[in-house]
Amino acid sequence: MTEQTTRTLRWGVLGATSYIAGHLMPAIAATPGCALTAVASRPHRRAQAEAAARPFGATAHADYAALVADPGIDAVYIALPNTDHVEWTVRALEAGKHVLVEKPMAMDEEGCARVEQAARAASRTVMEAFMYRFHPQQRRAAEILASGEIGELRVVRASFAFAIGTGSGNIRLEPSLGGGATWDVGPYAIDAPMLFFGQAPQEVSARFSSRPGLTVDTSAVATMDFGDGRAAVVDYSIDYGPRAAYELQGTHGTLSVRNAWAMSGEDGHLTVLTADGVREETVPAADHYQEQVAAFARAVRDGGSTAVTLTDSRRAARVGAALAASAASQGRPVTTADSPKTPR
Ligand SMILES: NC(=O)c1ccc[n+]([C@@H]2O[C@H](COP(=O)([O-])OP(=O)(O)OC[C@H]3O[C@@H](n4cnc5c(N)ncnc54)[C@H](OP(=O)(O)O)[C@@H]3O)[C@@H](O)[C@H]2O)c1
Repeated sequence: MTEQTTRTLRWGVLGATSYIAGHLMPAIAATPGCALTAVASRPHRRAQAEAAARPFGATAHADYAALVADPGIDAVYIALPNTDHVEWTVRALEAGKHVLVEKPMAMDEEGCARVEQAARAASRTVMEAFMYRFHPQQRRAAEILASGEIGELRVVRASFAFAIGTGSGNIRLEPSLGGGATWDVGPYAIDAPMLFFGQAPQEVSARFSSRPGLTVDTSAVATMDFGDGRAAVVDYSIDYGPRAAYELQGTHGTLSVRNAWAMSGEDGHLTVLTADGVREETVPAADHYQEQVAAFARAVRDGGSTAVTLTDSRRAARVGAALAASAASQGRPVTTADSPKTPR
């Protein structure tokens, strides 16, 4: 048994805003076998890091580099602006830490390749934080699909949208920080079809629109062609909403998940529609952030594979970049197929 299989996984968190303090930090602190040990903000926000660390008895470091260098930290959670994900993930891996990084891991496949190389060289675990995959309703949806009740999967319809204001300071509206709907809500909506079809699409096509006065994309409609007549229709937005639903259209019926990505403590509701009628299922509330932290910690301890694989992350980055390329050329189809060498 290695040391890591027995002792508490000590977490450090980069960034100290309300989302992190309200969701991930409590999830880490509440997960058996995990401890929230340190938080870091940029130097001018040290006071915020201290305030976020205090309720958990964690230490506030002077900056991100100091936290990553701390020998008392085993794992780092990264929820920085999208443009910083690859750099800080690689730096943490090179310092010997395991890393849970927010979506998108990278905004191109090359960034994922850099992460993969660093993880392999350091023999450390890295995973992109697609938290919704860890909610029990997700497992239930997969079970229903596998049971054959709705037949063979033909179409996935995924839609994730919420409206945000145009006030200054939101990283989602800032092009230099990787803002825009495609890299914010988009990754979830495009992950669901890839999860259920178990592969990358062969080709995608997208149309983006931008709120007047903004240069980032704020709404998008896209199609994803999985071959053999199988497809996904996806829309996502930071202009309208709220909506966070997907539907699996099979040859014999439809499975709808009412709230896939915006869960905050409520029950999950699944609806199955077939020729036999309508059937509703309720899945009891669960904290998908905590389930995600627990699954990541298990992968670290067991040295096993993560539920969200690096192949998943490469696909997500490739497809996100392809949607942007398609939108930039008025919806031209862009090839996104897995290479024959892509492992599962
Ligand atoms: N899984 C989910 O449910 C979920 C939900 C929301 C966001 N996210 C992801 O988490 C990441 C951060 O999103 P957020 O909503 O938490 O953003 P946010 O509230 O603006 O926080 C951004 C964080 O990045 C740090 N930062 C570093 N450089 C920055 C800069 N130039 N401008 C602003 N902040 C900077 C800030 O940390 P300090 O100021 O403390 O240094 C802050 O903690 C994104 O990748 C997003 O996709 C995931």
